[in-house]
Amino acid sequence: MTKKIKVGVLGATGNVGQRFVQALSDHPWFELTALGASSRSAGKAYADAADWKLGREIPKSVADIEVSEINPKYIDADVVFSALPADLAKTTEPEFAKEGFVVASNAAAMRMEKDVPLTIPEVNPDHLALIDIQKKNRKWDGCIITNPNCSTIVMAMTLKPLEQFGLRNVNVATMQAISGAGYNGVYAMAIYDNVVPYIGGEEEKMETEILKIFGKFDGTKVKCADFKVSASCHRVPVIDGHTEAFWVDMEKNPTPEEVKNAFKTFDPKLSDLPTEPEFPIIVCEGPDRPQPRLDREMGGGMSVSVGRIREGIRYVALGHNTIRGAAGASVLNVELMHKKGYI
Ligand SMILES: NC(=O)c1ccc[n+]([C@@H]2O[C@H](COP(=O)([O-])OP(=O)(O)OC[C@H]3O[C@@H](n4cnc5c(N)ncnc54)[C@H](OP(=O)(O)O)[C@@H]3O)[C@@H](O)[C@H]2O)c1
Repeated sequence: MTKKIKVGVLGATGNVGQRFVQALSDHPWFELTALGASSRSAGKAYADAADWKLGREIPKSVADIEVSEINPKYIDADVVFSALPADLAKTTEPEFAKEGFVVASNAAAMRMEKDVPLTIPEVNPDHLALIDIQKKNRKWDGCIITNPNCSTIVMAMTLKPLEQFGLRNVNVATMQAISGAGYNGVYAMAIYDNVVPYIGGEEEKMETEILKIFGKFDGTKVKCADFKVSASCHRVPVIDGHTEAFWVDMEKNPTPEEVKNAFKTFDPKLSDLPTEPEFPIIVCEGPDRPQPRLDREMGGGMSVSVGRIREGIRYVALGHNTIRGAAGASVLNVELMHKKGYI
């Protein structure tokens, strides 16, 4: 067997960090060797430092790993997956990249930097080429690669098969799970029996990140796409799984049947990455699907479910925000980097 790549998780005790640990503890290519978090957690065994009240099972192989501080000196790994708060990520991730680490980040801090790939393997794998430009520009031995915001990923996965019809205007209303705000993010008294029609910065992220993702890479830079996106984001009392309602206006005016067929036949050909779902998009046939409780675990949480495809074109999509929308997206990015020889 070839030697596994040593990987670490920054922000390992948090909501997304725990998902990273689950995805990496038994990975065929990666060996989880380091877990980093704040000084509140550093020095403790991982099982004691992370709060497991969410009912997730702690993988035995990592329970006794001692949590380190977030400092390149203490992290024994070649790749770090970052689930840090964005303000901390802005200073920390470049420090790690400068020290030679490959940094795969979930945080928003570096996503819109011109030389940083904002990548979804099924959508814009060619943007990985920005890595070489980034290393040259910044004189780093390592690099930073990012995945989009959780609701943007769900949107991008469903727009990719529709790109062939000429995207013009996309309107989207989201119903986002509370886990999207982090473990301590939303007070129970504020969300139980309620809908909060505001998520700070979320609409702006959906409206801008998508244009970079669908931008054309010309060999030196990404020229952003020019279709229009208008988003309205809402927090709802669901634990995991973002639901999104779409109205998409396209030049070729496809029928609902043509759209359904485009979703069903979407095959990005990633060539057997370990965590790639068999079906990136699953079309739900029932009139009342997709639903978070019934559909968020599809494809191990990596598939996006769509349904209610109607004239307009209107449809509803659902994706697991902490797996497909966060940790799983980062792990798939690094698998692609490995496959393409960047690691
Ligand atoms: N939740 C989602 O669905 C989602 C989706 C996509 C992207 N993201 C992004 O992913 C990142 C993490 O989100 P999350 O939901 O996992 O947040 P979270 O549950 O609040 O976890 C934050 C993590 O960062 C660590 N941390 C906080 N302050 C620190 C400090 N000063 N120094 C070192 N470590 C520190 C925490 O360690 P301690 O436990 O020791 O405090 C914890 O491990 C954010 O940038 C978020 O925007 C989240």
